[in-house]
Amino acid sequence: MMNLTVNIGVIGTGGMGGRHARNLTDAVAAANIVAIMDVDPVRAQQVADRCGGATLYTDADHLIADPDVDAVLVAAPDRFHAELTHACIEAGKPVLCEKPLAAREPEARKIIDAEVALGERLVQVGFMRQYDPAHMGAKQISDRGDNGRALVFRSVHMNPAKDEIRPIDDVITNSVIHDIHSARWIMGAEIESVYTSYIPFSPFQPKSARYVMIQLQFRNGALGGLECNAEAGYGYEVDVRITGETGVVQTNSLQSPIVRHNNVRSQWIEEDWLQRFEVAYINEAQAWVQSIIDGEATGPSAWDGYMSILVADACIRSAKRGQPVHVHAPEKPALYRNST
Ligand SMILES: NC(=O)c1ccc[n+]([C@@H]2O[C@H](COP(=O)([O-])OP(=O)(O)OC[C@H]3O[C@@H](n4cnc5c(N)ncnc54)[C@H](O)[C@@H]3O)[C@@H](O)[C@H]2O)c1
Repeated sequence: MMNLTVNIGVIGTGGMGGRHARNLTDAVAAANIVAIMDVDPVRAQQVADRCGGATLYTDADHLIADPDVDAVLVAAPDRFHAELTHACIEAGKPVLCEKPLAAREPEARKIIDAEVALGERLVQVGFMRQYDPAHMGAKQISDRGDNGRALVFRSVHMNPAKDEIRPIDDVITNSVIHDIHSARWIMGAEIESVYTSYIPFSPFQPKSARYVMIQLQFRNGALGGLECNAEAGYGYEVDVRITGETGVVQTNSLQSPIVRHNNVRSQWIEEDWLQRFEVAYINEAQAWVQSIIDGEATGPSAWDGYMSILVADACIRSAKRGQPVHVHAPEKPALYRNST
């Protein structure tokens, strides 16, 4: 018989895991948080209290093995994603893993191999822009062909200040990974080569990246450009622009009211991703829970997670070599036939 409520365990209850837990409790139908694990017991307890109580774990493997846990949401730091996701597949439990699926390509490959061996998709990756109404609208118009064939994909990703010198590897695998997925998803095409340029935070920290620009070539001949500011210093903005043969479609992230006051015309800009993608995170979690009830994984797959990390690795190599780098992608397994 079909399960009507999905009992969820959350691993990692920081900014993102805490928000997911709150959304699953307050805004997502048929979801119930039953278990929580974080290495910080105070944070775990606070989130458990906010969710109306849950079993607290100090060991992620014990949470995954808990027979009361139907599905797992992984929002621990990036370096733990692959191992935790792999453990969920071994336990046969659906998992919503935050991006990136893995820190490097070989770990992501093991997840693909595990799902293919199982013959079933259990993984959804947290590329929530796929559930953002603005992104969905732009893709729909582009796919409909109103502007002819899509020629060029552009994205601009402005991060708020973190007061942190971020290494180029982190900016690409943690932030630009979203833009890589958007490019593949919106264009419906794989990325064939990348060429990364960047400005470090200072000449004394050449492996840090303050601003990254990446040129893309898609397999279908289209071009792309990804821009990421690691520390915009004024707020958070993400937009995409798709140029077709006969027109352009673009998102406009600034949706707040325009205010005229004291001889100034102003518009409020979101502080961070939690504000900008508030609706997308809820839609994403709702779609995940529904897919578990329906018994069929949907949304960004492990293959999307794998391909985005493969491209991210190529972007990092290109940044270090100062040259374009070809993306050597393996053949897509049949299991992911319906995924991007
Ligand atoms: N999809 C998005 O838009 C988005 C936005 C922000 C963050 N994220 C991702 O979510 C994840 C968490 O990011 P965050 O911003 O919440 O970070 P955070 O630092 O606020 O929270 C991380 C939490 O994980 C806990 N933790 C550390 N090691 C752990 C372990 N081994 N097992 C379990 N928990 C552990 C920490 O105590 C902390 O509570 C990251 O992978 C990040 O890339 C995604």
